[in-house]
Amino acid sequence: MCGIIGYTGKRNAREVLINGLSRLEYRGYDSAGVAIVEDGDVQIEKKQGKLSVLAEELKRSPLQGTSGIGHTRWATHGVPNDVNAHPHYDHRKDIAIVHNGIIENYQELKKTLQTKGYKFVSETDSEVIAHLIADLYTNDLCDAVKRAVKKLKGSFAIAVVHKGEQGRIVGARKDSPLIAGAGDGEFFIASDIPAILEYTNKVIYLENGEVIDLKEDGITIYNSRGKKENREPVIIKWDIKQAEKDGYKHFMLKEIFEQPEMLRRMFTKRIKNGQAHFEELTFSKKELGKIKKIAIVACGTAYHAGMIGKYLLEKIAKIPVWVDQASEFRYRDPLVAKDTLVIAISQSGETADTLAGVREAKKRGAKVISICNVVDSSIARESHGVIYTHAGPEIAVASTKAYTAQIANLYLFTYYIASARGIKGLNEKKVFAALKKIPGHAKNFLEQHHSKKNKISGYAAKFHEYYLARNNKSCFLYLARNINYPNALEGALKLKEISYISAEGYPAGEMKHGPIALIDENPWVVCIATEAATHDKMEANIQEIKARGGIVIAIVSEGDGLGEDKSINYAIEVPRVPEILSPMLVAIPLQLLAYYVAGEFGYDIDQPRNLAKSVTVE
Ligand code: AGP
Ligand code: GLU
Repeated sequence: MCGIIGYTGKRNAREVLINGLSRLEYRGYDSAGVAIVEDGDVQIEKKQGKLSVLAEELKRSPLQGTSGIGHTRWATHGVPNDVNAHPHYDHRKDIAIVHNGIIENYQELKKTLQTKGYKFVSETDSEVIAHLIADLYTNDLCDAVKRAVKKLKGSFAIAVVHKGEQGRIVGARKDSPLIAGAGDGEFFIASDIPAILEYTNKVIYLENGEVIDLKEDGITIYNSRGKKENREPVIIKWDIKQAEKDGYKHFMLKEIFEQPEMLRRMFTKRIKNGQAHFEELTFSKKELGKIKKIAIVACGTAYHAGMIGKYLLEKIAKIPVWVDQASEFRYRDPLVAKDTLVIAISQSGETADTLAGVREAKKRGAKVISICNVVDSSIARESHGVIYTHAGPEIAVASTKAYTAQIANLYLFTYYIASARGIKGLNEKKVFAALKKIPGHAKNFLEQHHSKKNKISGYAAKFHEYYLARNNKSCFLYLARNINYPNALEGALKLKEISYISAEGYPAGEMKHGPIALIDENPWVVCIATEAATHDKMEANIQEIKARGGIVIAIVSEGDGLGEDKSINYAIEVPRVPEILSPMLVAIPLQLLAYYVAGEFGYDIDQPRNLAKSVTVE
């Protein structure tokens, strides 16, 4: 999943690479390294730990030069240590490579190369690429890379330098993202746009199977058949400020607070004359009207958004929907055919399982629409149609604004397909008027939680105290019903991924079938009890928990009395909105609770352990 970068031009390459890597660290952060070519030599510096460790080391012994490559790692093969960190040399130290992905046939290639006398030093799959290129090298790096990638199986985005070819970087990709940037007399290659946006907004997206040759005087792209490709750069319209913290302590907090404005922008853009519009969706309404069933495929948070989509699509568009985790969908022989619409949801648009799901669905003849945040990402490009969430760059590993953006687009799409299916009585004008009020409600709620010491951060502090007092024995349970049940799963996911505390989400009605056995005075139970058809049932569930000693944090609608109920330990009031619109608002206190609990424990909120933002490996 790691991030790679390459630079050739006139600037100090070390500075460009470190700066670029700092914007790619969300992709992996267990070690980092750079290789710089200067005076007929490739020099590598690499260090276990976050990028700051490498940056400190480079202050002590700065590598000089105007071209080089860099890497921030999320280990798949070999523990995170200095040796396994990228870049990797070939055994003569002529070549250095950085790699994102997994080389599936590395054992086989390694054996062959070892019999030829190549000595391996790391436990990674990636090192084999360096030796393989060295083995095929005559006097042209690009030629050697072209031949080497033909022998690689698996996924890769690579950048390669050779000590004898200063100023040249060769890259290649298959199933891992890679973009190039064209500046004024300088060129870049990177896993993602923010890495280079400070220097240029002219970006070229590389296609699967392509090889790119960057020299000080220009870029040449070769397709998988070795033919030159002419491709004009696209101009990126957002600027780097959007990928900065803007005074917030963490990206996660900034992204939580961006939600009202993001939703407001989206509704203004998408709702016109009381109708939902998806101008980038090339499907005709006629085609959509013929769809008989929908499969939603996604991972993690995007999967939870998909589950909310199921409630909406079935209730409003009257079409059968099932939701699959992409890692299951791709292997379970799903009943997907020509009459099926597959909706793939992904913030990054690069998640390997979701991408494989898209390919599987296409193979089976289904139509595929993706809901993606990252423009021109692999999933967006490989789908038949795309709905962009336009939430802006999401940097924190824990997804927040992308989630509410996905839900909001699912609302609009539900009405879009419902009207294509000729469903009567949709009353879009009224519904959309209510929907357009959600950003204002979200803003009001967040304003109440803007100060450092707000209600939710207070509850988080209390939990922390409780946890320590009970010898770290407490945990979290999230309960909800109906359309907010996916939010219970999402709240639990958010909490566990950044605070490492065990947390489970359940439909409240399932409690009596097992999980209620967990209730004593240990767990804290977050109950989503906002206005709903099943509100009374939820209240009864709260009483059942209280009767068994559980500690309840209830998320309730303003003014419904539950907030003052003394039997509830803690209450968070959210603005009162119709049940069907509530998930976008309910998500916000759940995000804040996870954020503040992780903060109490002093964890690295934006870069939680063992995780990476875009999961480009299986
Ligand atoms: C969310 O907080 C997680 N980090 C994770 O579950 C994420 O949603 C999942 O990996 C899917 O990513 P995607 O949306 O980029 O496909
Ligand atoms: N497989 C390589 C390694 O373990 C690259 C990892 C990645 O892309 O995340 O070092």
